[in-house]
Formats: sequence, structure tokens, C-alpha cells
Amino acid sequence: MSVRHFTDLSTVSEGDLRVMLDDAVVRKARLKAGERTRPLEGKVLAMIFDKPSTRTRVSFDVGMRQLGGETIMLTGTEMQLGRSETIADTAKVLSRYVDAIMIRTTSHERLLELTENATVPVINGLTDDTHPCQLMADIMTFEEHRGPVAGKTIAWTGDGNNVLHSLLEASARFRFNLNVAVPEGSEPAQKHIDWSKAHGGKLHFTRSPEEAVEQADCVVTDCWVSMGQEHRARGHNVFSPYQVNAKLMAHAKPDALFMHCLPAHRGEEVTDEVIDGPHSVVFDEAENRLHAQKAVLAWCLGA
Ligand code: CP
Ligand code: NVA
Repeated sequence: MSVRHFTDLSTVSEGDLRVMLDDAVVRKARLKAGERTRPLEGKVLAMIFDKPSTRTRVSFDVGMRQLGGETIMLTGTEMQLGRSETIADTAKVLSRYVDAIMIRTTSHERLLELTENATVPVINGLTDDTHPCQLMADIMTFEEHRGPVAGKTIAWTGDGNNVLHSLLEASARFRFNLNVAVPEGSEPAQKHIDWSKAHGGKLHFTRSPEEAVEQADCVVTDCWVSMGQEHRARGHNVFSPYQVNAKLMAHAKPDALFMHCLPAHRGEEVTDEVIDGPHSVVFDEAENRLHAQKAVLAWCLGA
């Protein structure tokens, strides 16, 4: 069997993604019931972080421990990578020591170079371009609260960033309608729009956040300036019409969910009344990172 990398939702089949989500639900239920299994006993995951993280770092670490495995935490600057050893050589060396590599890095090309040169599975823990693990947790969370996501409508308002890119891919893979409202100049990359449309994604773009969230089953947003994207920063007055507040949520379905990958910038992209209010499932999303990623690890490692 060829090495199973989890680089993007577009590089993993719809069937395999569904297998992982189903597995995540079972793993969560078993953990809550107090059952413990150790399918990854003796396995080691190397985690490379070129950017800060709370959820990704802790959920992968705890997830590996719950599966009986271990982790090694590495930061790019403390490795020889930070002294210009190549990603390719790093991939070849780490593949001799560990069973899988998770990386959070800057350019997507670094992730792909690691993947091309590793002989063990590589998992994308976020790049400037995408954040597929987040979407696995988000779809799991949606379905936990509202049942199958297929045919439902999700609305995004805010910046056209890495999380939106993975949401665009998810819309095709999981067959939901996606409405997107971003300000002019903050559009998502065309390649993700094209890929989604070519794979059946039902997308609707508008400049109006009210129009995007109209009849939505779920409203999603994220920070206005992503890590390492400060050069793309726009004035708050550009984004403020895209803030998710009670007035905007009132345009969505009465029982619409509110999602945010966190960390949130309260008072910017979302108000306290929404993120702490009855629509919000942000902490379920954060929790489900743990279970969704255990399913990703088990899929990658054949456990
Ligand atoms: N949502 C998310 O990936 O959070 P961290 O940056 O804390 O890992
Ligand atoms: N778009 C955000 C997500 C953080 C989890 C960023 O890249 O900073």
C-alpha cells in the first residue's frame, strides 16, 4: 500500500474522508464510555511547528497518547531546518526515526516537499494555503448537532483565507452548499474555487454578508489577519461589515450554528454575544479536533 498522506481534503477520496469521520465519532463515543485501546502502541509522531498553535499541538499530542503512541515536538527554528537544512533532507532523516510527521508551516510548497520526500505519512497541520484537519473537526461538529451535512447550507463571512480554502474543498467532498461573502481584494485563491466547482461544489459568492447567511444552517468566520499574513492585512473598516454579530445571525436560520476555528479576536470578526451565545459550537469544534485527528492518524497508519 502506498503511503497515506493527509495533505488536503482534495487529495483524499470522499470515501476515505467519510470513513475517517465515522471513525472519529466511534472513537469519541468509546473514550466517553471509558474504553481505552492502544492501536498506535510503539508508534511515534513528529510534530513540526513553524507557527504558533494551541489546539493543533495539544490535540495531536493528546490524540497520539490516547491511541497508545508518542509524540516529539519540534519547532522549525530549533531544528537544523532553521539553519537552512532542506525540507527534503529533513523528510528523509525523520522518516528513518518516526512513523508519521505532522507539520504546521508557512508555504504549502514546504508541506508538499516534505510529503514528496518522506517515506512515512505526512499530515497538514495548517499552511498559509489550507487547514484540512480543522474542516474534519468542523464537519464532525456540524453533523453531531444537525445530522448529515450533505444538502445543507454553510455561510462564510470574512477573509478569504486558509480555512476558507479547506471549506471550499469540503463543500465538494461533503456535498453542502457554500455561500461566501468576502470584501473586494480578500477573495480566496481561484484554484480552490475551481477545484471545488469541478468536483461538484455548489458555491455562491456575494459581497453581502446578509445575503450569504440568509437561510444558512451554519455561519463560519475566522480572524481578519492570519498568522504570517500581516502583509495582506486590510483596515478594520474593510472587514467590519463582515463581523458576525447578533444582527447578522438574525438573517440565518433561527437554529443556525456558529463556528470559528479559534483563536477568536472578540470584538473583531465576532462579538461576545455570538461566540458565547446559543448558536455557538466553537468549543465542540475545538474538542473534535482531538477525535477527528485520531481518525486521521489511524487512517494514515493503518490502525
Ligand atoms: N484552530 C487551530 O488550528 O488552532 P491553533 O492555532 O491553536 O492550533
Ligand atoms: N486563518 C488562521 C487560522 C488559525 C488556526 C491562521 O492561519 O492564522
